[in-house]
Amino acid sequence: MVLQVEGLGKDVISGTNATGGDRILTILHEIDFNVQAGEAVAIVGASGSGKSTLLGLLAGLDLPTRGRVQLAGHDLATLDEDGRAALRGRELGFVFQSFHLLAALTALENVMLPLELLGSQFEPDPRTVAEAMLARVGLADRLGHYPKHLSGGEQQRVALARAFAVSPRLLLADEPTGNLDAATGQQVIDLMFEMNAEQGTTLILVTHDELLARRCGRAIRLAAGRLV
Ligand SMILES: Nc1ncnc2c1ncn2[C@@H]1O[C@H](COP(=O)(O)OP(=O)(O)O)[C@@H](O)[C@H]1O
Ligand SMILES: [Mg+2]
Repeated sequence: MVLQVEGLGKDVISGTNATGGDRILTILHEIDFNVQAGEAVAIVGASGSGKSTLLGLLAGLDLPTRGRVQLAGHDLATLDEDGRAALRGRELGFVFQSFHLLAALTALENVMLPLELLGSQFEPDPRTVAEAMLARVGLADRLGHYPKHLSGGEQQRVALARAFAVSPRLLLADEPTGNLDAATGQQVIDLMFEMNAEQGTTLILVTHDELLARRCGRAIRLAAGRLV
Protein backbone atom coordinates (compact mmCIF):
# COMPACT_ATOMS: atom_id res chain seq x y z
CA MET A 1 0.00 0.00 0.00
CA VAL A 2 1.48 3.35 -1.03
CA LEU A 3 -1.00 5.48 0.84
CA GLN A 4 -3.40 4.89 3.73
CA VAL A 5 -5.72 7.69 4.81
CA GLU A 6 -7.82 7.22 7.96
CA GLY A 7 -10.35 9.61 9.46
CA LEU A 8 -8.53 12.58 7.99
CA GLY A 9 -9.97 15.99 8.84
CA LYS A 10 -8.89 19.60 8.66
CA ASP A 11 -10.30 22.61 10.50
CA VAL A 12 -9.19 26.19 10.03
CA ILE A 13 -9.85 29.27 12.12
CA SER A 14 -11.99 31.65 10.13
CA GLY A 15 -12.65 34.87 12.07
CA THR A 16 -14.33 35.23 15.45
CA ASN A 17 -17.75 34.10 16.66
CA ALA A 18 -20.41 36.12 18.48
CA THR A 19 -18.76 35.55 21.89
CA GLY A 20 -15.31 36.58 20.68
CA GLY A 21 -13.92 33.03 20.34
CA ASP A 22 -12.36 31.54 17.24
CA ARG A 23 -14.82 30.57 14.55
CA ILE A 24 -13.85 27.09 13.32
CA LEU A 25 -14.46 26.09 9.73
CA THR A 26 -14.19 22.38 8.82
CA ILE A 27 -12.78 22.09 5.30
CA LEU A 28 -12.25 18.30 5.32
CA HIS A 29 -14.41 15.74 7.20
CA GLU A 30 -13.44 12.13 8.01
CA ILE A 31 -11.69 11.15 4.79
CA ASP A 32 -10.81 7.45 4.43
CA PHE A 33 -9.20 5.76 1.44
CA ASN A 34 -6.22 3.62 0.41
CA VAL A 35 -4.13 3.65 -2.73
CA GLN A 36 -2.20 0.59 -3.96
CA ALA A 37 1.13 0.69 -5.74
CA GLY A 38 0.79 1.41 -9.45
CA GLU A 39 -2.79 2.74 -9.30
CA ALA A 40 -3.90 5.94 -11.03
CA VAL A 41 -6.53 7.75 -8.95
CA ALA A 42 -8.35 10.96 -9.85
CA ILE A 43 -9.56 13.35 -7.14
CA VAL A 44 -12.48 15.32 -8.53
CA GLY A 45 -14.97 17.82 -7.15
CA ALA A 46 -16.12 21.41 -7.50
CA SER A 47 -13.83 24.32 -6.81
CA GLY A 48 -13.61 24.82 -3.03
CA SER A 49 -14.48 21.18 -2.21
CA GLY A 50 -11.12 20.59 -0.50
CA LYS A 51 -9.04 18.89 -3.21
CA SER A 52 -5.88 20.99 -2.81
CA THR A 53 -6.14 20.84 0.98
CA LEU A 54 -6.31 17.04 0.77
CA LEU A 55 -3.29 16.87 -1.55
CA GLY A 56 -1.27 19.07 0.83
CA LEU A 57 -2.11 16.71 3.72
CA LEU A 58 -1.14 13.65 1.66
CA ALA A 59 2.24 15.24 0.94
CA GLY A 60 2.79 16.24 4.57
CA LEU A 61 3.03 19.87 3.47
CA ASP A 62 0.13 20.63 5.82
CA LEU A 63 -0.87 18.90 9.07
CA PRO A 64 -4.33 17.43 9.72
CA THR A 65 -6.59 18.34 12.64
CA ARG A 66 -7.79 14.72 12.93
CA GLY A 67 -6.85 11.33 11.55
CA ARG A 68 -3.71 10.18 9.84
CA VAL A 69 -1.83 9.63 6.60
CA GLN A 70 0.62 6.79 6.04
CA LEU A 71 2.90 7.35 3.06
CA ALA A 72 5.03 4.38 1.94
CA GLY A 73 4.51 2.83 5.37
CA HIS A 74 5.46 5.95 7.35
CA ASP A 75 2.89 7.67 9.57
CA LEU A 76 3.45 11.36 8.74
CA ALA A 77 2.41 12.39 12.27
CA THR A 78 5.41 10.54 13.75
CA LEU A 79 7.89 12.52 11.64
CA ASP A 80 9.11 16.06 12.30
CA GLU A 81 9.30 18.63 9.50
CA ASP A 82 12.78 17.51 8.41
CA GLY A 83 11.68 13.88 8.45
CA ARG A 84 8.64 14.67 6.31
CA ALA A 85 10.81 16.67 3.89
CA ALA A 86 13.26 13.76 3.58
CA LEU A 87 10.40 11.30 2.96
CA ARG A 88 8.91 13.63 0.31
CA GLY A 89 12.31 13.93 -1.38
CA ARG A 90 12.68 10.16 -1.66
CA GLU A 91 9.14 9.00 -2.35
CA LEU A 92 7.12 11.86 -3.82
CA GLY A 93 6.90 13.97 -6.95
CA PHE A 94 4.61 17.02 -7.02
CA VAL A 95 3.24 18.82 -10.08
CA PHE A 96 1.25 22.05 -9.76
CA GLN A 97 -1.18 23.85 -12.06
CA SER A 98 1.18 26.85 -12.24
CA PHE A 99 4.35 24.77 -12.88
CA HIS A 100 6.38 26.19 -9.91
CA LEU A 101 9.76 26.11 -11.65
CA LEU A 102 12.56 28.19 -10.15
CA ALA A 103 12.88 31.25 -12.41
CA ALA A 104 16.62 31.72 -11.80
CA LEU A 105 17.47 28.17 -12.89
CA THR A 106 17.57 26.69 -16.40
CA ALA A 107 15.39 23.72 -17.35
CA LEU A 108 18.35 21.40 -16.74
CA GLU A 109 19.16 22.98 -13.35
CA ASN A 110 15.51 22.76 -12.26
CA VAL A 111 15.50 19.00 -12.95
CA MET A 112 18.95 18.47 -11.39
CA LEU A 113 17.98 20.16 -8.12
CA PRO A 114 16.00 17.33 -6.44
CA LEU A 115 18.62 14.81 -7.61
CA GLU A 116 21.40 16.86 -6.01
CA LEU A 117 19.38 17.28 -2.80
CA LEU A 118 19.11 13.50 -2.49
CA GLY A 119 22.88 13.00 -2.75
CA SER A 120 25.04 10.71 -4.79
CA GLN A 121 22.71 7.77 -5.44
CA PHE A 122 22.02 8.72 -9.06
CA GLU A 123 24.13 6.89 -11.67
CA PRO A 124 26.16 8.06 -13.42
CA ASP A 125 25.45 11.58 -12.05
CA PRO A 126 22.55 14.07 -11.60
CA ARG A 127 23.34 15.98 -14.80
CA THR A 128 23.17 12.88 -17.00
CA VAL A 129 19.96 11.66 -15.32
CA ALA A 130 18.36 15.12 -15.70
CA GLU A 131 19.37 15.36 -19.36
CA ALA A 132 17.86 11.94 -20.03
CA MET A 133 14.58 12.89 -18.30
CA LEU A 134 14.34 16.13 -20.30
CA ALA A 135 14.96 14.15 -23.48
CA ARG A 136 12.22 11.73 -22.33
CA VAL A 137 9.68 14.60 -22.19
CA GLY A 138 10.82 15.92 -25.58
CA LEU A 139 12.94 18.84 -24.39
CA ALA A 140 16.47 17.70 -25.29
CA ASP A 141 16.98 20.97 -27.18
CA ARG A 142 15.73 23.21 -24.34
CA LEU A 143 18.20 22.30 -21.56
CA GLY A 144 19.65 25.81 -21.19
CA HIS A 145 16.32 27.66 -21.39
CA TYR A 146 15.03 29.62 -18.40
CA PRO A 147 11.32 29.13 -17.54
CA LYS A 148 10.32 32.57 -18.92
CA HIS A 149 11.58 31.47 -22.35
CA LEU A 150 9.49 28.29 -22.34
CA SER A 151 5.82 27.90 -23.28
CA GLY A 152 3.35 26.73 -20.63
CA GLY A 153 3.36 23.20 -22.03
CA GLU A 154 7.16 23.14 -22.06
CA GLN A 155 7.31 24.41 -18.47
CA GLN A 156 4.91 21.69 -17.36
CA ARG A 157 7.02 19.07 -19.14
CA VAL A 158 10.10 20.37 -17.27
CA ALA A 159 8.07 20.08 -14.05
CA LEU A 160 7.19 16.47 -14.98
CA ALA A 161 10.85 15.68 -15.70
CA ARG A 162 11.76 17.18 -12.32
CA ALA A 163 9.06 15.19 -10.54
CA PHE A 164 9.90 11.86 -12.21
CA ALA A 165 13.71 12.22 -12.20
CA VAL A 166 14.03 10.75 -8.70
CA SER A 167 11.78 7.77 -9.66
CA PRO A 168 9.24 8.61 -6.94
CA ARG A 169 6.87 5.96 -5.67
CA LEU A 170 3.97 8.43 -5.85
CA LEU A 171 3.21 11.45 -8.03
CA LEU A 172 0.72 14.03 -6.74
CA ALA A 173 -0.55 16.52 -9.29
CA ASP A 174 -2.90 19.45 -8.61
CA GLU A 175 -4.79 20.32 -11.82
CA PRO A 176 -1.70 19.69 -13.94
CA THR A 177 -3.51 20.60 -17.16
CA GLY A 178 -5.47 23.54 -15.71
CA ASN A 179 -3.31 26.20 -17.38
CA LEU A 180 -2.80 24.40 -20.70
CA ASP A 181 -4.80 24.23 -23.91
CA ALA A 182 -6.44 20.89 -24.71
CA ALA A 183 -3.75 19.57 -27.08
CA THR A 184 -0.86 20.54 -24.80
CA GLY A 185 -2.72 19.19 -21.79
CA GLN A 186 -3.13 15.89 -23.62
CA GLN A 187 0.66 15.62 -24.12
CA VAL A 188 1.21 16.18 -20.40
CA ILE A 189 -1.46 13.59 -19.51
CA ASP A 190 0.07 11.04 -21.92
CA LEU A 191 3.49 11.56 -20.33
CA MET A 192 2.15 10.98 -16.81
CA PHE A 193 0.49 7.72 -17.84
CA GLU A 194 3.61 6.60 -19.73
CA MET A 195 5.64 7.15 -16.53
CA ASN A 196 2.97 5.28 -14.58
CA ALA A 197 3.43 2.34 -16.97
CA GLU A 198 7.24 2.53 -17.30
CA GLN A 199 8.27 3.27 -13.71
CA GLY A 200 5.21 1.87 -11.92
CA THR A 201 4.71 5.31 -10.37
CA THR A 202 1.40 5.61 -8.51
CA LEU A 203 -0.55 8.68 -9.70
CA ILE A 204 -2.97 10.81 -7.67
CA LEU A 205 -4.32 13.53 -9.91
CA VAL A 206 -6.60 16.38 -8.85
CA THR A 207 -8.50 17.47 -11.91
CA HIS A 208 -11.53 19.19 -13.38
CA ASP A 209 -10.74 17.51 -16.67
CA GLU A 210 -13.26 14.70 -17.31
CA LEU A 211 -11.01 13.13 -19.96
CA LEU A 212 -8.17 12.92 -17.47
CA ALA A 213 -10.42 11.55 -14.71
CA ARG A 214 -11.70 8.85 -17.05
CA ARG A 215 -8.16 7.66 -17.82
CA CYS A 216 -7.60 6.93 -14.14
CA GLY A 217 -8.55 3.53 -12.74
CA ARG A 218 -10.88 5.16 -10.22
CA ALA A 219 -12.04 8.55 -9.02
CA ILE A 220 -12.43 9.89 -5.50
CA ARG A 221 -15.12 12.55 -5.45
CA LEU A 222 -15.17 15.37 -2.89
CA ALA A 223 -18.15 17.62 -2.14
CA ALA A 224 -17.90 20.29 0.58
CA GLY A 225 -14.99 18.47 2.21
CA ARG A 226 -16.59 15.01 2.27
CA LEU A 227 -16.07 11.89 0.14
CA VAL A 228 -19.19 11.14 -1.89
N1 LIG B 1 -5.82 28.19 5.13
C1 LIG B 1 -7.15 28.31 4.94
N2 LIG B 1 -7.89 29.12 5.72
C2 LIG B 1 -9.21 29.24 5.53
N3 LIG B 1 -9.89 28.60 4.58
C3 LIG B 1 -9.22 27.80 3.75
C4 LIG B 1 -7.81 27.62 3.87
N4 LIG B 1 -7.41 26.76 2.90
C5 LIG B 1 -8.52 26.44 2.20
N5 LIG B 1 -9.61 27.05 2.72
C6 LIG B 1 -11.01 26.88 2.26
O1 LIG B 1 -11.26 25.50 2.22
C7 LIG B 1 -12.04 25.17 1.10
C8 LIG B 1 -11.30 24.12 0.26
O2 LIG B 1 -10.20 24.73 -0.39
P1 LIG B 1 -9.29 23.96 -1.44
O3 LIG B 1 -8.75 22.74 -0.79
O4 LIG B 1 -8.32 24.92 -2.01
O5 LIG B 1 -10.36 23.51 -2.55
P2 LIG B 1 -10.20 23.02 -4.05
O6 LIG B 1 -8.75 22.71 -4.29
O7 LIG B 1 -11.10 21.83 -4.15
O8 LIG B 1 -10.69 24.15 -4.91
C9 LIG B 1 -12.32 26.46 0.36
O9 LIG B 1 -13.59 26.89 0.75
C10 LIG B 1 -11.25 27.39 0.85
O10 LIG B 1 -11.70 28.70 0.84
MG1 LIG C 1 -7.42 23.50 -5.66
